[in-house]
Amino acid sequence: MSNYHIKHLEEYYQVYRKSIREPESFWEEIAEEHFLWRKKWDSVLDWDFSKPEISWFKGAKLNITENCIDRHLTTRGDKTAILFEPNHPDEVAEHISYNELYKRVNKFANVLKEQGIKKGDRVCIYVPMIPELAISVLACARIGAIHSVVFAGFSATALATRINDSDCKMVITSDGSFRGSKTIDLKGIVDEALESCSCVETVLVAKRINTEIYMKAGRDKWLAPLLEKASDVCAPEIMNAEDPLFILYTSGSTGMPKGMVHTTAGYMVYTAYTFKNAFQYKENDVYWCTADIGWITGHSYIVYGPLANGATTVMFEGVPSYPDYGRFWDIVQKHKVNQFYTAPTAIRALAKQGTDVIEHYDLSSLKVLGSVGEPINEEAWHWYNENIGKKKSPIIDSWWQTETGGIMISPIPYVTPTKPTYATLPFIGIQPALMDENGNELKGNQVEGRLCIKFPWPSIARTIWGNHQRYKETYFSAFDNKYFTGDGALRDEVGYYRITGRVDDVIIVSGHNLGTAPIEDAINEHPAVAESAIVGFPHDIKGSALYGYITLKDTGETRNHDNLRTEINQLITDRIGPIAKLDKMQFTNGLPKTRSGKIMRRILRKIASNETDSLGDTSTLLNQEVVQDIIDNAL
Ligand code: WT7
Repeated sequence: MSNYHIKHLEEYYQVYRKSIREPESFWEEIAEEHFLWRKKWDSVLDWDFSKPEISWFKGAKLNITENCIDRHLTTRGDKTAILFEPNHPDEVAEHISYNELYKRVNKFANVLKEQGIKKGDRVCIYVPMIPELAISVLACARIGAIHSVVFAGFSATALATRINDSDCKMVITSDGSFRGSKTIDLKGIVDEALESCSCVETVLVAKRINTEIYMKAGRDKWLAPLLEKASDVCAPEIMNAEDPLFILYTSGSTGMPKGMVHTTAGYMVYTAYTFKNAFQYKENDVYWCTADIGWITGHSYIVYGPLANGATTVMFEGVPSYPDYGRFWDIVQKHKVNQFYTAPTAIRALAKQGTDVIEHYDLSSLKVLGSVGEPINEEAWHWYNENIGKKKSPIIDSWWQTETGGIMISPIPYVTPTKPTYATLPFIGIQPALMDENGNELKGNQVEGRLCIKFPWPSIARTIWGNHQRYKETYFSAFDNKYFTGDGALRDEVGYYRITGRVDDVIIVSGHNLGTAPIEDAINEHPAVAESAIVGFPHDIKGSALYGYITLKDTGETRNHDNLRTEINQLITDRIGPIAKLDKMQFTNGLPKTRSGKIMRRILRKIASNETDSLGDTSTLLNQEVVQDIIDNAL
């Protein structure tokens, strides 16, 4: 029996029990046998959820890039590490071998050093899905700089907030990006952001779309000539197990995004372990996760997890609809993809196109299909299973979060029998608990409650950058001595988990986690707006879409409401990004409030979802009269 690679259901239960009964010796054995350490740990786990303080493999020394690259060179030097598939199908794919990746990461690491970046410095990476993105992430890790990747679809304001929050000294970007038939002026967005960031000294610019761009003297430098001159050998910085590896921002229910801090050793061990098992990766497989590296899915399951296992990981620059909706299947066929990991929103968009387009492609290489980011509805699950997996590739509906670093609840393909809409069983080492509203744990099966985790796992985020208090309040205060996920879940009669969705003010639109507060803040900036409230409502493709209730300062406002709608969506695009635009905007005479002045979102959610029959008790409202008015004018 190998604890590292689970192959049967009995083995899963056996290893799971061991990982719960003796977590320290379990993870110690995994760490010892499957990774490269410069020095072993003094203790495997120290934790106290009340502070909260968590450390794994304390005292150990390592560099994650030695584990992801160097150690594979003797056995897999010529194997493709990163397979880059460009936006346009006519541009040739690039196969970057482990040998080449080693050189390119080292060169980049040397450039960072020459530009004055040292261990512990923060580097913001705002780069599209081109090889330089993965390489710059690894180059930071090589020298111990903390990377903060910001998804290259965020606006200048969102970028500036993230750069300033963690005092980034450098920004890495590109002249622009390709996205289907469009190009995006990324460097222009960076320039705008940097008008309000005094911490940034240097901007490194990769060339991708070859447009004429402004280069600020002394600050902006083209990457290519610097890389050319740099040596391809760079000794790895030897890091402590708990040194921060990266910061990644996620939305919360208040305005400021949370800079989740992930550290080195535990993150490496857990992402590698979960990658191996959740995808049943075998040596010559080609694995493809369609996420962007700007999200945690890309960090853990495009870059670190796959590379730590010496895998071939596909990086796709484009979108599923360009040049047509066959693009994903074209890539699966072309590169004989074995494991395919995507989001329910993509599955729904593709399902809408029908099955004719799929029939042109040979999908027989597929062995495992993954889903992540939001609950997958039953219809999408069956469509994926029948048309893409041809009923022979298990679907792994994997539940996890930016904060958890790695997959937490998921079937293991060919091991765990799947069940539509169920994420099924906890991963090895994960101890979920369902809680009622009074803080009691619901024991046994067939219960529904708030999903918590009772015991630390190696890749749990350790803090929020610069705000440990907020970390404690957000995740460790709702329930004593437990990590609270913000999700609701149920456990069925055999102990399978189904995630029912967020129980806080976070709405998941097309798999993107959006807090309501930052969107409301953006809307409220409009001079005509008095206040606003955003809720989610069910949407065929996006899962949830955004419905905004907006009260104008002058309720008799005579200006054209369509113009206002356009202006408000423009503000949201400027402050957050196009993903946060509202699908529906209703101008109201007031918003339903409790006597303490809190907006009753529950009521607004019901109205947005057309469920006005079950509004519940509205008698405690301060201003009951606005409710009928809102219902009468609902969109
Ligand atoms: C939230 C975390 C983890 C990678 C992408 C999202 C929701 C995620 C599932 C799933 C039901 C899911 C949860 C979670 N979520 N995966 N398989 N089934 N819901 O990371 O942006 O941090 O969002 O996404 O609500 O809390 P994230």
